[in-house]
Amino acid sequence: MRKTIIVSNRLPVKITRKNGEIVLTPSEGGLATGLGSVYREGNNVWIGWPGQEVTDVMEQTELKTELAKLNLLPVYLTAEEINQFYEGFSNEILWPIFHYMSTYARYEQSYWDFYIRVNEKFKEAILAVAEPGDVIWVQDYQLLLLPGMLRADLPDASIGFFQHIPFPSYELFRLIPWRVELLNGILGADLIGFHTFDDARHFIGSCVRLLAYHASANTITVNDRSVMVETFPMGIDNRKFESLSSTAGVQNQVQVLAKRFQDIRIILSIDRLDYSKGILQRLQGFDLFLQNNPWAIEKVGLAMIIVPSRDTVPRYKELRDQIDQLVGNINARYRTMGWSPIHYFYRSFPLEILAALYNLADICLVTPMRDGMNLVAKEYVASRIHNNGVLILSEMAGASKELIDAIVVNPNDANAIAAAIDEALEMSLPEQQHRMKSMRQIVAKFNVHHWVKLFMATLDDVKKTQQSML
Ligand code: UDP
Ligand code: G6P
Repeated sequence: MRKTIIVSNRLPVKITRKNGEIVLTPSEGGLATGLGSVYREGNNVWIGWPGQEVTDVMEQTELKTELAKLNLLPVYLTAEEINQFYEGFSNEILWPIFHYMSTYARYEQSYWDFYIRVNEKFKEAILAVAEPGDVIWVQDYQLLLLPGMLRADLPDASIGFFQHIPFPSYELFRLIPWRVELLNGILGADLIGFHTFDDARHFIGSCVRLLAYHASANTITVNDRSVMVETFPMGIDNRKFESLSSTAGVQNQVQVLAKRFQDIRIILSIDRLDYSKGILQRLQGFDLFLQNNPWAIEKVGLAMIIVPSRDTVPRYKELRDQIDQLVGNINARYRTMGWSPIHYFYRSFPLEILAALYNLADICLVTPMRDGMNLVAKEYVASRIHNNGVLILSEMAGASKELIDAIVVNPNDANAIAAAIDEALEMSLPEQQHRMKSMRQIVAKFNVHHWVKLFMATLDDVKKTQQSML
C-alpha cells in the first residue's frame, strides 16, 4: 500500500526528561499541532527530530521503538548540528529574512555547511524507508534543500513541499548568499505550496529573476519538468476544538478561571516567544488602551501566554528580557491592590487549559508583524461555540486573508490596537455573533483535513500531467 512520508525538522512530539526518564510531550507550533491531527492514517510515517540531543545509542534505539508505535521515525541531531543548522542557518538566517527582519540575520559559512549536511541526513532517513509509489511531503524552511536532494536520487518520485512561514519578496530573499541553491532545492518538488497568494507570487518572482526560469501562471518549467506553485491556506482540526469546548473537563476549567477573574473582561493572547509575533507592539497597544480608557482599570485584563521557544538564539533571549521589562512596567503603573492588568505566563499549557482560555476570553488579540498563517486565531474562532467573542487580527498574518470578519489592525499602529480593543469591548452581541458565525463557517469548511486532501489531490494531478507529457 502506498504511504505518505511526512518530513519536517520537528516531530509532533518532543522529548523532555523527568527525573532522568524520557517523557514524550506534544510539540508546540502550528506545523506540529496542525498536521498532528491527520498524519496517523494507514501506514504513513512522519520523519523528524525529537527536539533534544540524544547521544546514548541504547537510548536512541529505545526511543526509536517508542516513536515507531506512533508512526514516527526520529532523526537525531548532534549538539553541533542543533547549534549550526537549527539555531544558526534556520533561525538566524532564514527565519529573520523570511519574516522581513533582515538586520537580525547572521550569514555564517559554517551555518550553511551544516544546513547542507543535515538536509542530507534527512534524505538518508527517507531513502531508508521510501518505496516506489510513496508520496514524500517535505515541510518548511529548515528543509529547503531536501526536495532537490531527493529528486537527484529518486527522479520519478512524487515530492510535495509546503512552506509554513512567509516567502519574502525578491528584495529580501536576494540578500541570502546561498539564494540560488535554496531555490534549486525547493524546485526539486513537483508541487510547492504556500499559505497565501503573495507568498506564492514572491517565490515565482525569485525563481524568474534569480534562475531565469520560465514561469507561466503558476507553473515553472525546470529542465522539462513542470513544477506547480499553489496556495493552500492551512486549516485546523476545528471539530477537536468545538467538541473540547463542551467537555465537562474544559467547562470545569472555565468555571475555575471565571471565578478567579470574576467580572474582569479577558483579552487573550497566545504565541511562541518570537519577534515575528508583535508581542512588544501588542503590549504598547494595550498600554495605550489603558491610558485612554481609565474606566478599564479593574475591569479588563490581558492574559498573555508566551510559550518558550528557541531561547538559545540571542535575539529570542533579548526579546524575553524586553517582554519581562515591559510587562513589569505596565503592571507597576496601572495595578491596584486587587487587580493587575497583565497576567503573563512564560510556559506552555495542556490543550484542555488552552481550550478553557479560548472559551473564557472575550477577545483574542493576535498581532504578528509577519506570520505565515497563525493557527491560534483559527483555534479561538473554532472554540467559540456560542458565536460570541471578538478576534482582533493583524493584517500581516496569513489568517487575515480568510478571517475578514475579525477587527483587522496594522500591528505597527499602537493607536489602532488600542482603538480595536475599545471597539471589541463595546461591540454588541448580535454584531459579535454575526462576525463569529461567518468566521466559524470558514474555519470549519477549510479545515486541516480539507487542506491535506487538496494538497494531495493536486500533487496527484501534477504527477499525472507530467506523465502525460512524456
Ligand atoms: N500551542 C501549544 N501549547 C501552548 C500554546 C500554544 O501547543 O502552550 C499551540 C497553539 O495551540 C497553536 C500553535 O501552538 O496550534 C501555534 O501555532 P501558530 O500557527 O499560531 O504559530 P507558530 O508557533 O506556528 O508560529
Ligand atoms: C513554526 C515553524 C515550524 C516550527 C515551529 C516551532 O510553526 O513554521 O517549522 O516547528 O514554529 O518552532 P521550533 O523552532 O521550536 O521547531
